[in-house]
Amino acid sequence: MCYPFFGMNEGRFDPLKKSGLFEEMSWKMKIYRAKDYEAMSVKAASLLFAQVMLEPRSVLGLATGSTPIGMYRCLVEWYRAGRLDFGDVTTINLDEYCGLAPDDPQSYASFMRENLFRHVNVKGEDVHIPNGLAKDAKAECARYDEIICRSGGIDMQVLGIGHNGHIGFNEPGDCFQKDTHCVALSDSTIAANRRFFERESDVPRRAYTVGIRTIMRARRVLVLASGLQKAAIVKEAFWGPVTPRVPASILQFHGDVTLLCDDEALSLV
Ligand code: F6R
Repeated sequence: MCYPFFGMNEGRFDPLKKSGLFEEMSWKMKIYRAKDYEAMSVKAASLLFAQVMLEPRSVLGLATGSTPIGMYRCLVEWYRAGRLDFGDVTTINLDEYCGLAPDDPQSYASFMRENLFRHVNVKGEDVHIPNGLAKDAKAECARYDEIICRSGGIDMQVLGIGHNGHIGFNEPGDCFQKDTHCVALSDSTIAANRRFFERESDVPRRAYTVGIRTIMRARRVLVLASGLQKAAIVKEAFWGPVTPRVPASILQFHGDVTLLCDDEALSLV
């Protein structure tokens, strides 16, 4: 299904304003500015901390990439200090590269193990990441959507944002893809991910990602962005028109989004 294009923050769509929908949607987006990456990471971890403290059986939607590493570091620290318990938490990761085994050091399964899972008491059976080695991609996508459905949906979804506006690996396109799918990564995403691999040719060209429907159904969404190189896309995604050309822009229609950025990432707004 394709969603129409809207320019919600441009203030020229009177019907939205008259219906009250504009106010309804915009006041619900909370924007926090942190002075730097460290401060952003502590605030992000605090929001997850509160989520797990208040609802120990929370389903957390988790992201990989550089941005949430500091947040995971804080969570591990707080777990070690006895302040946090992941024993009843379920985790659902956004994405995984096709063709990489879970024990491949470049896989997102390894990333999550190294940055969070092996340091805390989340149970192995409650950790979910698409299987990069699945033989049948369609069946793997259906299996993953079934897991999400059985979990009761995501309570808090953590997202980073790609330079091209991708969330998970929902790349810019003509329409928003709803369900878990296998996607051909865009050239700019391959270039951005090059830094984690020895050679450009080692960067996987395809990945599994949850769809936009799963993200939009999360009860709360936490978007993190850090650094000057994210400033333009943050502005475009959250202050520009809603369009599948900038997948993160759909979050303007989510009822409970927190945008948490450092000073640099908010420097253009
Ligand atoms: C990773 C993911 C991606 C990243 C995005 C930003 O699980 O879903 O959408 O969040 O590519 O990556 P970093 O944080 O490395 O800039």
